[in-house]
Amino acid sequence: MATDFTKYIATVPDYPEKGVMFRDISPLMADGEAFHAATDEIVAYAQNKGVEMVVGPEARGFIVGCPVAYQMGIGFAPARKEGKLPRPTVKASYDLEYGTSALYLHKDAIKPGQKVLVTDDLLATGGTIGATIQLVEDLGGIVVGTAFLIELKDLHGRDKLKGYDVFSLMTY
Ligand code: PRP
Ligand code: ADE
Repeated sequence: MATDFTKYIATVPDYPEKGVMFRDISPLMADGEAFHAATDEIVAYAQNKGVEMVVGPEARGFIVGCPVAYQMGIGFAPARKEGKLPRPTVKASYDLEYGTSALYLHKDAIKPGQKVLVTDDLLATGGTIGATIQLVEDLGGIVVGTAFLIELKDLHGRDKLKGYDVFSLMTY
């Protein structure tokens, strides 16, 4: 039977601000078996797409993307927030469910034509993943898939990802 991953998600009302139902993935990460199984599901999704690199946004995109890249035997490139990457970067700005931000990717993180899987813990409005996709494409990469542990249906992030393949393990 398929694993019910929702039992590993802690829901925290009004965090980090009133009106937000925060979906905390920490219990899932803390359970070795569940974390492994969730990683395997994303790897299974990504296989046969010819993925050559995984890219994930700071910070929780690293948690999801690194084990996937490790399991697939390919590289991982971090999309980071302001002032964190030491060498020349490309930049993309975006809106959040709560606030605005910008992400950066090292200019040599992706080679033109490289097939990329973009990962994050959660798809809300789609701003973060949209910016991550923009960074990959600015460098000439081809986004062959996007994968999330959680998708918040009410925020319609999937609508921003028209034309991209979207996989999510859980929906709320
Ligand atoms: C959270 C989450 C996703 C993003 C989803 O990250 O980990 O990256 O928000 O929201 P969106 O689809 O509306 O863009 P956050 O910016 O809080 O940063 P963190 O991972 O560093 O906590
Ligand atoms: N990032 C954006 N919205 C979120 C939410 N509701 N829970 C956890 N992370 C988030």
